[in-house]
Amino acid sequence: MDIFTEWPLITTTILVVVFSIRLYISLNIRSKKSIPKLPPGPPKLPIIGNLHQILGKPRHETLWQLSKEYGPIMQVHIGSKHFLIVSSSALAKQILKTQDHIFCSRELLQATKLLTYNFMDIAFSPHNGHWREMRKLLVSEFMGPKRAKLSNHVLVTEMESIISSLSSNPSKKEVNLSNMFLEIVKQMVCKVAFGSNYRRQPAKGPSWDVMLYETMKLLNGSVGDSFPFLGFFIDQFSGWNHRLNDGFKNFDAYIDTIIDDHLKNNTEEISEEDKDFVHTLLDISSKEIDSGYRLNRADLKALVMDILTGGINITVVTLIWAMSEINKNPRVMQKLQREIRNCTGKIEKVGELDTTKMTYLKMVVKETLRLHTPAPLLIPHVSLSHTQIEGYDVFPSTTVLINAWGIARDLSTWGENAAEFYPERFENVEGDFGRDRFEMLPFGGGRRSCPAMNTAPANIEFVIASLVYWFDWQLPNGMKIEDLNMEDEGTLIVSKKVPLYLVPTKHKWED
Ligand code: HEM
Repeated sequence: MDIFTEWPLITTTILVVVFSIRLYISLNIRSKKSIPKLPPGPPKLPIIGNLHQILGKPRHETLWQLSKEYGPIMQVHIGSKHFLIVSSSALAKQILKTQDHIFCSRELLQATKLLTYNFMDIAFSPHNGHWREMRKLLVSEFMGPKRAKLSNHVLVTEMESIISSLSSNPSKKEVNLSNMFLEIVKQMVCKVAFGSNYRRQPAKGPSWDVMLYETMKLLNGSVGDSFPFLGFFIDQFSGWNHRLNDGFKNFDAYIDTIIDDHLKNNTEEISEEDKDFVHTLLDISSKEIDSGYRLNRADLKALVMDILTGGINITVVTLIWAMSEINKNPRVMQKLQREIRNCTGKIEKVGELDTTKMTYLKMVVKETLRLHTPAPLLIPHVSLSHTQIEGYDVFPSTTVLINAWGIARDLSTWGENAAEFYPERFENVEGDFGRDRFEMLPFGGGRRSCPAMNTAPANIEFVIASLVYWFDWQLPNGMKIEDLNMEDEGTLIVSKKVPLYLVPTKHKWED
């Protein structure tokens, strides 16, 4: 071959090859850039996604199992909805602290829209100015020092009456502690929020407890929420819409009664001392808040709804678990009683009980919240803009489920005895969970964390301390410790499946 005659052909061939290689590389880079990097996840079926893997089982447990296979960040599809599942404390910290400004919104579901008066509440409101104002109001007016003093007073009075009624209980009669805790918390919350009368049953419609229980179930959302196009029909034919409307109507009528009763009084004639939370809200609604915001009736009702659903249920659930665990673990009961009785000495009045220095008691409550994380997947957080977590792309409006239940039982963090009730594990553990550390998240974290994070544990500690100070407790009918049923149920909030019954015996002090 004459290289000189073939030269133009060779040059052209080389140029074509080089150009093709460059084109290939640049196209490849561009397409790599535009293909998002998504986290792994279990294979999904058409239409239903991964619904078949989750339906009918405790969601948090199934997701925890799946995370063992697919890693601490994975994606799951329920119907046509896509969820990001986070299952490690390090990644929870990313979401709730490092990138809290991105993951601070909420899902807009049909049920919550109705039950929160169009997302006018705090817990289910998207991240906006309204949420900020409402949260500020709750923290300053419901959880501020004035109301804390009143709730402490109500709690003391309530515990006095419980202790006196338990003391006059014919010996060896079992007591339903689940009901008792509901009464205590209802009284405390209702007295502080709405005045004294609202513990009584509504004049019409279902009982208080049934109404609350039903609303909590409705807040879980419906199957239709996962199928945006067919959702309405699924919810209509399954009877869900009917149930939702009924549930809302009953609760709404109850809240209307509370507000109308308050409106009958002229709040100017009531002293500041005697004003409850609704009185204060009505006062505030008659003028503009500093920021120029004005509270209307729907806002007020949505706040009341949050207090009833958020404030009562979770506290009751935690009290039931705490008392169940203490009674299932006689070693813990003895150590706790020793601390409370030694710290307190012999007293006559409940008000003399001071729990502030009872370190073991605090560890017992923390351990209860770890082992029985009441909101196992928190309230779902939603992203506001595109970001990356662990190098994976996360798009705006992604719903993130943080598996607080799994994180709090992670063997790699809590050791081989992670599933055991062992309060001593908190000895020498400094810092607040959800703020400084993320190995357990009973109150969530970041700007959407529970506003009662600091106040709620103190109330739980006080109730438990009063009960174990004045009484020794036994399981009913010679029941063995291993027979105490610790099964749980629920989706948004997980509670003990069967009520807790125990037998109290008044403690006799040796003179
Ligand atoms: C042991 C008691 C309690 C526990 C364990 C608890 C737990 C939680 C959790 C896990 C969240 C979601 C946090 C997140 O999404 O990151 C939350 C939110 C909330 N909790 Fe609590 N809670 C308790 C008591 C209360 C009480 C007494 C109130 C009083 C009314 C309350 C009001 C709220 C509100 C308004 C939110 C929504 C916050 C927001 O979205 O900005 N909680 N709580």
